[in-house]
Amino acid sequence: MKKHLITIFLAFCLLSAEAQKITNTIPRLVKVGSDTQLWVDNKPYMILGGELGNSSASNTEYMKPIWPKLKKMNVNTIFTPVYWELMEPVESKFDFKLLDDQIVNARKNSIKLALLWFGSWKNSMSCYAPEWVKTNTARFPRSEDANGVKQEILSPFSKNNLAADKRAFVALMQHLKNIDGLQHTVIAVQVENEIGMLPDARDHNPAANTAFGQAVPAQLMDYLKKNKDQLLPETKELWSNNGYKTNGTWDEVFGKSPATDEAFMAWYFAVYTNEITLAGKATYNLPMYVNAALNAPGKKPGKYPSAGPLPHVMDIWRAGATAINIFAPDFYNPNFKHWDDLYTRQNNPLFIPEIRFEPGVEAKAFFAFGNYNCISFSPFSIESTQKPEKEPIGKAYHILDQLRPLVFKYHPQGNVRGFYFDKDTVTQKRDTAAQKTTLGNYTLKVTHEFNLGWSADAKNSAWPQTGAIVIAVDPDEYYVAGTGIVITFESVTPGKRAGFISVDEGNFINNKWIPQRRMNGDQDHQGRHVRIPVGEYGIQHVKLYTY
Ligand code: DGJ
Repeated sequence: MKKHLITIFLAFCLLSAEAQKITNTIPRLVKVGSDTQLWVDNKPYMILGGELGNSSASNTEYMKPIWPKLKKMNVNTIFTPVYWELMEPVESKFDFKLLDDQIVNARKNSIKLALLWFGSWKNSMSCYAPEWVKTNTARFPRSEDANGVKQEILSPFSKNNLAADKRAFVALMQHLKNIDGLQHTVIAVQVENEIGMLPDARDHNPAANTAFGQAVPAQLMDYLKKNKDQLLPETKELWSNNGYKTNGTWDEVFGKSPATDEAFMAWYFAVYTNEITLAGKATYNLPMYVNAALNAPGKKPGKYPSAGPLPHVMDIWRAGATAINIFAPDFYNPNFKHWDDLYTRQNNPLFIPEIRFEPGVEAKAFFAFGNYNCISFSPFSIESTQKPEKEPIGKAYHILDQLRPLVFKYHPQGNVRGFYFDKDTVTQKRDTAAQKTTLGNYTLKVTHEFNLGWSADAKNSAWPQTGAIVIAVDPDEYYVAGTGIVITFESVTPGKRAGFISVDEGNFINNKWIPQRRMNGDQDHQGRHVRIPVGEYGIQHVKLYTY
């Protein structure tokens, strides 16, 4: 009997040690200074990612030739959909085969996964809802436009819709915990995909209309009152329209307008998504985020997928979706910096699950990791390339992967900068302006390499996008990496001039700097500047002195 008890006790200890291991090492977000880092297996992790085209992960055979492509591009993480219709083809009968295959193959290739839950909504629509949901509109009601026309968009005002999605999502997270709770191949989960309302700014089905006629929920009113001084300018504008009212219906508090309709919808999308997220996290607590299709400026709510986690309704999402860790932008429109700036307000880390896979995307990657507290970068339909070994993004990832430890150490200290040269916003041709920053003992002036006028291509009307990341590891010592840039240094000490002690090209191998060419003479313009030509990708180690 005693022996038995001891065995039971030992088994219990072992089990709780296992459970402990799961909770201790589960991928999570960690605050380091003012930065938020994603930690995987107790170490900071940089997502050098790629999102799969929507249908690639629906067939394991189809994925076979894709894995080697990803390796050739130095992708360390893929964003891969989990399709509700294929995961729960019959109500309550779950089929995880596709996901299991994906996880096995990801492990074989040492690639991590971020899962995209294509549940109630995918790009506004509900095209991934299973047949038993789609065909039973009485049980699973649809959103309606202002004329009462039903849309293929599940209404967030239906408890049945929420319950069905939530149950499937919890089953997914439970399965994930069972098969991946120790190995952590899956490091993050996106809840839904590009939530948005069309063709009007809000749902007009009967339940939505009832909610619209009721008072603005106390939870939102409380958030607005409590955070009045820190609200985003867009929220202040909306709330001030009708004189900062603190109770009443949506129209009474915010005034009758499409912006009010959008705010209303954003709230109900947020609380619906939050409930799914909460239930999923209670099962297996991975970092979870939501993504948004950016709106074209100037268009009225309803004319773009409205009420998703967009900058102008971010406070509403923040108030309603408290379980969501990150609000993420999908980039398919210009003005990269503008949107990055909007998404990094209120300490939201920059997490890019999707960006158009096009020339210049690599320049944006250098800028994103240098200029922001960026956790993830990931071109969409990454597998579509025919020449993975030649892709500039692969070259950029090779460099960023080497710089990871330095970025994690020096970014929270404020010693990392990013630079990006786009087309000139006025002429749409050349970004000729210099960008200046003070870092360490020097002011750096960074320009597009074509400003030198040395390359015959510089005469072409359009210049390629270029970018760089600069890390000060000491006040007189930097690592500069990127493509198509020139940097000059000025001493911050009045009356002193700056000179190079050395400029070396090289690589970090196993975290150790291995210098290769000494970049003197023509390569550093006889000691005048650091240069990485257009079309080349590299890291240079720069040491300076003053005289
Ligand atoms: C954004 C969506 O989130 C993706 O799933 C995909 O549909 C792309 N747009 C296509 O451009």
